[in-house]
Amino acid sequence: VREPVLEVGDIQGHVLTGFGRAFELLLGLRIVAGSEAQARRALAPLCDRITSAAATGAYKAERRRALATGRSPPTLGGVAIAIAFSAEGLRVLGEDPRAIPDLIFVGGAGADAGSLGDALDATGHPLHWQFGATPETDLHILVIVASGDHALAEAEADRLLDALGVHVSLVYRECGARIANDGEHFGFADGVSQPGFRGLLPDGTPLISRSYPPDHPFARVWAKPGQRLTWPGQFVFGYAGLDPDDLAAPGEETGGGAPLLRNGSLLVLRRLTQDVAAFWTAMEDLAAQLKSLTGRSWEPVEAAARCVGRWPDGTPLSLSPAGEDSKISGDPYRRNGFNYVRAVAPATLLDQYGEHGFPGAAADPLGRACPLFAHVRKVNPRDHAHDFGGVGASLRSQMLRRGIPFGPRWTGEDDGRERGLLFMSYQTSVQSQFRKLMTEWVKDPVQPLGGGVDPLLGPDRPEGRRLVLEVEGSRVTLALRGSFVRATGASYLFAPGIATVRRLLVS
Ligand code: HEM
Repeated sequence: VREPVLEVGDIQGHVLTGFGRAFELLLGLRIVAGSEAQARRALAPLCDRITSAAATGAYKAERRRALATGRSPPTLGGVAIAIAFSAEGLRVLGEDPRAIPDLIFVGGAGADAGSLGDALDATGHPLHWQFGATPETDLHILVIVASGDHALAEAEADRLLDALGVHVSLVYRECGARIANDGEHFGFADGVSQPGFRGLLPDGTPLISRSYPPDHPFARVWAKPGQRLTWPGQFVFGYAGLDPDDLAAPGEETGGGAPLLRNGSLLVLRRLTQDVAAFWTAMEDLAAQLKSLTGRSWEPVEAAARCVGRWPDGTPLSLSPAGEDSKISGDPYRRNGFNYVRAVAPATLLDQYGEHGFPGAAADPLGRACPLFAHVRKVNPRDHAHDFGGVGASLRSQMLRRGIPFGPRWTGEDDGRERGLLFMSYQTSVQSQFRKLMTEWVKDPVQPLGGGVDPLLGPDRPEGRRLVLEVEGSRVTLALRGSFVRATGASYLFAPGIATVRRLLVS
């Protein structure tokens, strides 16, 4: 299979590899009406500051090498920067956003809120949003300033804002901070499963490392156990996309050759506030229901793991329904090395550090170990067939997730402070990736696999959300009461290739 060479010098690092730094400070900006020319001049110096995927890739490779050989990881001087524009932002800069073939992006996040289940006011605007709800708070531009050092990110953001002066107004500013084990506030490891896409670095090595030896039959379609290969056009315009009927063959190039789109990607930003106290109260309630149905006592974390599909340390429930297993969660191949319908065969994997034994992974087609409604199973049914197609259709809907938590760590006491996830995902179709998962699967009790709506994200019901699962050999139905995640801001944006950013801001 011939794989495309990725233009890593032009694709933004936040899109292709993520920044991998402890802090990401988000600046939501609007160009002041009548100041377009001055704003563009003020923004122009940013072009030379955008961090490319070549730079983030080199840093991440160095970090991996250092950790594997017991050296201390490289300290990062400076900051990494990303930029993205909403449809309205492109319009203000004189570009027709309809050149981007995604009506949902062009319509904007505010117009899409109702379809995603967000509460609306009498005029149809989303309630509770800190940005994006009305034309006055709609972001034109999002700048992300990332650093391993919080003070450095804040100082750099201050300098950028000073330089922008009065022609650009600040609508939203917030700094996300990583939690240990890439965790989120409910207490679970996040960012474990990411799509593996094909594509080579200029030196001919694959950007996403492969772990089956080249002559292994799985090497053709799998990057690693549990990580099936897809095509980069699914995430970045200008490359072959996925053909759901032939996963090994390159599909059509995404973006139709439009120069504006080349090396760009669509970014969904949703500020999701998490009510951690309400989540654990609901888990206690589920545990009590399970106790009365099974006659044995249940811990809230056992109920929570069934809602998420993983244990807090990342151990997949489908491999270890009884509890965390550090032999699985601590092994980079086993923690995501599973399917649901077909078992994964044992193999000797080969990576840059040598051979690595992979013991195989059992299947769980009926959801006996990991319920069919579990968040991870709902948003990625992996090798299940469903009403929307087979494996190809599930793979086609995956996104690059780049979220980071915001707000103080949860200490177990209800402190009345706000916390949550700055959910960010990159894709080349908001419509058939992020939004498809949200509107067709997360809130549907039957799709893709039945069992109930997504316990983390699905809509609340006065009578509770009905969850059907198998425990100790019998089918039981639970009522999940309350809701724990609500959107408090959103924007649909376009993160162009760096040459296009220059053209937008300098020409
Ligand atoms: C506050 C809200 C959310 C929380 C707390 C949350 C939590 C988690 C956790 C703990 C995992 C398991 C780690 C992993 O497999 O990487 C996960 C996976 C995932 N989540 Fe979420 N999530 C949230 C919102 C969303 C949203 C809005 C989407 C968009 C549809 C989404 C899509 C995914 C996907 C695609 C996976 C990977 C599943 C897989 O490939 O096996 N999540 N999430």
